[in-house]
Amino acid sequence: MKAIWITRKGGPEVLELRDTPTPVPGPGEVLIRVKAAGLNRSDVYSRTSNAYGKEDAEIPGLEVSGTIVSCAPDAPRWKPGDEVCALVTGGGYAEYVAVPAGQCLPIPQGWTLEAASSLPETVFTVWLNAFRTAHLKKGENFLVHGGSGGIGATAIQLAAALGIPVYATAGTDEKCRWCESLGAARAVNYKSQDFEEAFKTIGIDVILDMTGGDFTPKNLRLLRDDGRLVYINAMRGREATIDISRIMARRLTITGSMLKPRDAAFKSALAAEVEQHVWPLIARGALKPLIYATFPLEQAAAAQQLMETSTHQGKIILIIN
Ligand SMILES: NC(=O)c1ccc[n+]([C@@H]2O[C@H](COP(=O)([O-])OP(=O)(O)OC[C@H]3O[C@@H](n4cnc5c(N)ncnc54)[C@H](OP(=O)(O)O)[C@@H]3O)[C@@H](O)[C@H]2O)c1
Repeated sequence: MKAIWITRKGGPEVLELRDTPTPVPGPGEVLIRVKAAGLNRSDVYSRTSNAYGKEDAEIPGLEVSGTIVSCAPDAPRWKPGDEVCALVTGGGYAEYVAVPAGQCLPIPQGWTLEAASSLPETVFTVWLNAFRTAHLKKGENFLVHGGSGGIGATAIQLAAALGIPVYATAGTDEKCRWCESLGAARAVNYKSQDFEEAFKTIGIDVILDMTGGDFTPKNLRLLRDDGRLVYINAMRGREATIDISRIMARRLTITGSMLKPRDAAFKSALAAEVEQHVWPLIARGALKPLIYATFPLEQAAAAQQLMETSTHQGKIILIIN
């Protein structure tokens, strides 16, 4: 099969299309012929750094959609010909990928295979961090940074679908208006305005943050009593100043997680929760596909380059023919 490899750490040019043995599904796995693979910021970090502890060449890609071509005997839910989308632990930028059966979900009604490839990584991450870990619920106020990216746009749509007022930051006025068109009550351009000043009267209960650094003290000051701050990255810096007395006085919780290194049992259990709680919302049209650009597999380097410019709104997808 053809697959894109990260041949060494570096710029987009280290991504190479290579002939590679087709994976063989192990116990509990299915083999998917990939139609589309969603891009995620994490794919870029896998290429540029050893943040995930991997030095060797690898095939990136955390989410795919496609058609099942074979199943292990102990993967009874699926059969060859079934169309699915799946959370994978690398290996998505390829013509075929083997994945634990529990990490596959049916294509939501009305969604194309291409569009469905954009769902698993963002929906699983938002569900896990904002809803399961931070217990975000109706009656609370929610703030997400990076509102126009894949994670941010999913968080906005999901919260809005559940009737939760959601606020966002993004890096241009145009991106802010786009966040509001997705359901954000208000989005603030953090480059031209102080988001703490803009949101200080709201009383935020949960913040989903991938920025860290200098946003941290602002986030802590925006949270009201029993507020929760959940980290999924630290794009503005891994170190921050924390006012401990504020945490005590307001009974704040600071937490975070990384989905990629979790094992198949964890991801499969999460998939079951997502199917139960989020798939019905998608089926009734509460989330719409937000595909900003598509690239053929062999142009993965250009696709990642686009992601690094942060000019995109929503998701970038690779199409495999
Ligand atoms: N921990 C986990 O399990 C997990 C899982 C999935 C994703 N993530 C993380 O979540 C983040 C979003 O992922 P994604 O796939 O949605 O990426 P994405 O589509 O590229 O979105 C990231 C957004 O963050 C904004 N941004 C970038 N640098 C920023 C900065 N210095 N300050 C403020 N905003 C900044 C960008 O918008 P502007 O240019 O407008 O600012 C961009 O829209 C990534 O950092 C990724 O690693 C973590």
